Amino acid sequence: MIYLKTPEEIETMRSATTLVSQTLGEVARWIQPGVTTRKLDTIAREFIMDNGGKSACLGYGGFPATLCIEVNEIVVHGFPSDRILMDGDIVGIDTVVEKDGFMGDSCYTFPVGEISPEKMSLLRTTKESLYVGIEAAKPGARIGDIANAVQTYCERRGYSVVREMCGHGIGRKMHESPEVPNYGRRGIGAKLQNGMCICIEPMINMGSRNIVIESDGWTCRTKDRKPSAHYEHTLVILNDRTEIMTTFDYIEEVLQDRFI
Ligand code: MF3
Ligand code: CO
Repeated sequence: MIYLKTPEEIETMRSATTLVSQTLGEVARWIQPGVTTRKLDTIAREFIMDNGGKSACLGYGGFPATLCIEVNEIVVHGFPSDRILMDGDIVGIDTVVEKDGFMGDSCYTFPVGEISPEKMSLLRTTKESLYVGIEAAKPGARIGDIANAVQTYCERRGYSVVREMCGHGIGRKMHESPEVPNYGRRGIGAKLQNGMCICIEPMINMGSRNIVIESDGWTCRTKDRKPSAHYEHTLVILNDRTEIMTTFDYIEEVLQDRFI
């Protein structure tokens, strides 16, 4: 069942979507060669607490951290650790924040130092595909229109789309109906209507679309160990338009000319 939010609920939910966006902006300040992913997790955990929020990831189904850390071939759900980020890595930071009873969910994949042109174009295409999906998420459109738009955009450019993981509805819970896949046929699935809040989150691979889950039960990586990228926004469908509730503006402020 899809929970449609009232205008008041949407206003309340802005606390969470703003805070998750600011959290990624704060983490962005620390991303550079030499930092451990555990340090990034600590920064995020403290920032969320200091701002009256709560990490929705910490403890979720036993997930042990505030941030999901996605270095190079990690697709989603990597754990923070003593791993040091190196020049040339890419790192996705995915997190969900709860505030005032609602959730905000966002993800951004960052270059660490200087990255290869191949990785840069993977990041660009994945991020662009998020906005292509958002463009397709107009009131009256269907979930399949989003899915098909993302898939077509990425596959035309030679990338593959992870199928096992999807975007999702969001609200008082991190994951609500409907599922929002990044592949599929136009015209199918739920119709987008006033008050729906959804997350679009393309997970796009440089090589094949196949993934494996590591023995920790969480860490999801590409089978061929080629890089994967991931970007995510939380959106709300209104009567006459779709609004992006999260923003990468805080990240852009930090990265400036390094913002891609
Ligand atoms: N942001 C992610 C999602 O949309 C993942 C959070 S998983 C958790 O599913 F376990 F860390 F919470
Ligand atoms: Co999500």
